[in-house]
Amino acid sequence: MADMEDIRKAFADELSSSETFAGLQQLKVKYLGKKGVLTSRLRLLSTIPAEERPAYGKLINDLKILIESALEEKEAGLKKTERDRNFALEALDVTLPGKYAVPGRSHPLSRVLKEITDIFVNMGFDVEVGPEVELDYYNFEALNIPRDHPARDMQDTFYITDDVIMRTQTSPVQVRTMEKRKPPLKIISPGKVYRCDADVTHSPMFHQVEGLMVDTDISFSDLKGVLEIFVHRMFSKDTPVRFRPSFFPFTEPSAEIDIGCILCGGSGCRVCKGSGWLEVLGAGMVHPRVFEMAGYDSELYTGFAFGLGVERITMLKYAIDDIRLFYENDTRFLRQF
Ligand code: FA5
Repeated sequence: MADMEDIRKAFADELSSSETFAGLQQLKVKYLGKKGVLTSRLRLLSTIPAEERPAYGKLINDLKILIESALEEKEAGLKKTERDRNFALEALDVTLPGKYAVPGRSHPLSRVLKEITDIFVNMGFDVEVGPEVELDYYNFEALNIPRDHPARDMQDTFYITDDVIMRTQTSPVQVRTMEKRKPPLKIISPGKVYRCDADVTHSPMFHQVEGLMVDTDISFSDLKGVLEIFVHRMFSKDTPVRFRPSFFPFTEPSAEIDIGCILCGGSGCRVCKGSGWLEVLGAGMVHPRVFEMAGYDSELYTGFAFGLGVERITMLKYAIDDIRLFYENDTRFLRQF
């Protein structure tokens, strides 16, 4: 009978160190299973003297009940611990402030580029694009700027090889378009261009929009009309526009277009250097030699071309005085647009 007490103690020890459902199941089998400790003791009952049997039987039964209820209790405890742990893992604190998703917005240059594109598309211009890594031929030679011509100094160029460069302007797209399309032609070409140039108003990479219109009787007044409409839509209806004689090898005559200073209204300030005018783009009538090199009959066709700097227009529109702000990705700057 002392045996029963040893079994109880052994069970109690094992139970206290058993912390898994599998462990409890093993204990159940070990003590209460068909070949378990208690079952084998029950089988021995018949070998015990008859008068001792009831007391011994009762001892075994009592221990069986104790073990069963101890196992059940421990199992209930494990279930509760597991449930509590799951609740803790899945806990949702509805009083916490929600996560605020910061809405994205487009970069000021992208916005202005889209505005410029929309204005010209509304006037019937198509959009054409060309490569940023360009042949010297399209960037210079086909635009009437031969090798060793001093006009090459107007644009500091990144050379990749003698014949391959980073394009310095979007004008090569004029030539590429004329090679593949016949007049009448009305295109703009937005894109990135590169020059070895850096200060507060110049960046080594910047954006231009090229324009080209060709037909049998395009005149300088068409150029004036189109660019005036552009300036009035881009800035305001009463912005004054001025055409000033200039030089580009691929246009003749050439002009630079100024607008009345939008900061001082024309009275003269630091931004317009006291002149009351701001230069916004270059333009002119397409040079006959450019037509000939692209395979157009220069006796039959006339046309105009223009090229504007997107950074410059954006800086004027939003009174930004340092071009580098566009590329620094400082959200305090970008958030304002
Ligand atoms: C040209 O690039 C000519 N292709 C424009 C043209 C096209 C004339 C068709 C006639 C016919 P220009 O080098 O002036 O021209 O550059 C045009 C504009 O690009 C300038 O007015 C200026 O706004 C901008 N620009 C030039 N260099 C930089 C630079 N480093 N960073 C930012 N903007 C620049």
